[in-house]
Amino acid sequence: METTATQADLDGYPVSLKDICLRLGDRMFCSDLGIRYPYLGGSMAKGISSIAMVEELGKAGMLGFFGAAGLPFATVEATIDRLASADFPCGFNLIHSPHEPDLEIALAELYIRKGVCLVEASAFLALTLPLVRYRVHGIHRAADGTIVVPNRIIAKVSREELAEKFFSPPPDKFLQQLVAEGAITAEQAELAALIPLAQEVTAEADSGGHTDNRPALALFPTIQSLAVRMQVRHGYSVKLRAGLAGGIATPAAAAAAFAMGAAYIMTGSVNQSCIESGTSDEVRRMLAETRQADVCMAPAADMFEMGVTVQVLKRGSMFPMRAGKLYELYRSCSSLEDIPTTERDKLEKTFFQAPLEQIWQDTRSYFQRRDPRQVERAERDPKHRMALVFRWYLGQAAHWAKDGQTGRRIDYQIWCGPAMGAFNEWVAGSFLESPDRRTVATVARNILYGAAFLTRTNFLHCQGISIPTDAMHAKPLEDSQIKEYFS
Ligand SMILES: Cc1cc2nc3c(=O)[nH]c(=O)nc-3n(C[C@H](O)[C@H](O)[C@H](O)COP(=O)(O)O)c2cc1C
Repeated sequence: METTATQADLDGYPVSLKDICLRLGDRMFCSDLGIRYPYLGGSMAKGISSIAMVEELGKAGMLGFFGAAGLPFATVEATIDRLASADFPCGFNLIHSPHEPDLEIALAELYIRKGVCLVEASAFLALTLPLVRYRVHGIHRAADGTIVVPNRIIAKVSREELAEKFFSPPPDKFLQQLVAEGAITAEQAELAALIPLAQEVTAEADSGGHTDNRPALALFPTIQSLAVRMQVRHGYSVKLRAGLAGGIATPAAAAAAFAMGAAYIMTGSVNQSCIESGTSDEVRRMLAETRQADVCMAPAADMFEMGVTVQVLKRGSMFPMRAGKLYELYRSCSSLEDIPTTERDKLEKTFFQAPLEQIWQDTRSYFQRRDPRQVERAERDPKHRMALVFRWYLGQAAHWAKDGQTGRRIDYQIWCGPAMGAFNEWVAGSFLESPDRRTVATVARNILYGAAFLTRTNFLHCQGISIPTDAMHAKPLEDSQIKEYFS
């Protein structure tokens, strides 16, 4: 016989919703990282995941990654100094830079030098020496025999092949190279062979920014099962864990992630629409109006020549179309001079709003300061010169958006995934509809509380208790209503 859920059932008797909030995900993961809730704010380049965002998530018992990618070195260093005195954990992004390997080396060295002990490693296509150097730095055995690894990597991947590499011990060739360079001792290399390069891997499904557009429901079980197999294969003394990112911005998505066994969840797109994000009010306004189908893939500035794409907002911006056009020209022409005159005129009038020669001169002086080898190569190879000029547009388009440059609104490059549309639909008609009311912690608590609520209603449903239709929906709650669950 089916009974109907009472208010007490829904509020969480005998297991309170507060307890369920605390039991979502992997408790040991939270305790290892020193956080209360398995909720991570993913890195967002150029400080879009800002200091304020990292601070607010940290104060709320969650974890934020500072978006170090694409920022001047001095800014990253100053941010590390500023967050060093925080009394909550936080992490920094270590992004793969295949075109500027020196940058990746310098960033990893900076993190080692400054004692940053948690990084989110992302956009890696293969493992690299700086990544391994970071992970094994300071590895040693404690008096009780356990292996102590001061630096933790949470790797974000879209593919199982890469997840396998991160769940494996650091490759021997890199360990031997580090021994030969004197960076680690032979004994440290032996210890490093017993640990995973990353104990945690975030499966990145269809998300904003770099993504393979895999459905979370297909990708996560594969990465999770890989974690189990790799645990058995290597017999690690620590537990391998899989988290989920991509598409999570609603209670239902979070509940589904935890139901699949995610140790933690990671959000991105929705955080960009919050007041703490390091973007412009105009972008936040555009994001608040975004619907599911308003996103598409467009060429990525950092890996343009390789044909890599990123997920961006298409509603209200011509960036995806224009960036696509530049990639098409890059494929079909051998140099800037090879571009048909009508096309070139159009580019100069609309995309670049300046002669291409002038853009090249600006790009040249930029790379003279940052990476002179790019200039040398461009002067030898006209196709590379064309790529650098085209990448100027892609790079600037992200700055125009972040700075809210009104004259360039049509060219804004805004990384965004379908999660944004899902969030907007969920909060429509509530206080969270307005971008001015969206704070990362309130959004995060609502997603977690709602996930706990839906998890509970699902238990009741599976026990044969009928749930009133309106109780199947977790409504956004003001901080004052939700506080008791997070005290
Ligand atoms: C604006 C924006 C910038 C991002 N920049 C980075 C980055 O620099 N490094 C990184 O690891 N991930 C980056 N991401 C991915 C997020 O950290 C996160 O994994 C992803 O957004 C989660 O999926 P969702 O967008 O569906 O929430 C970015 C995402 C967005 C929306």
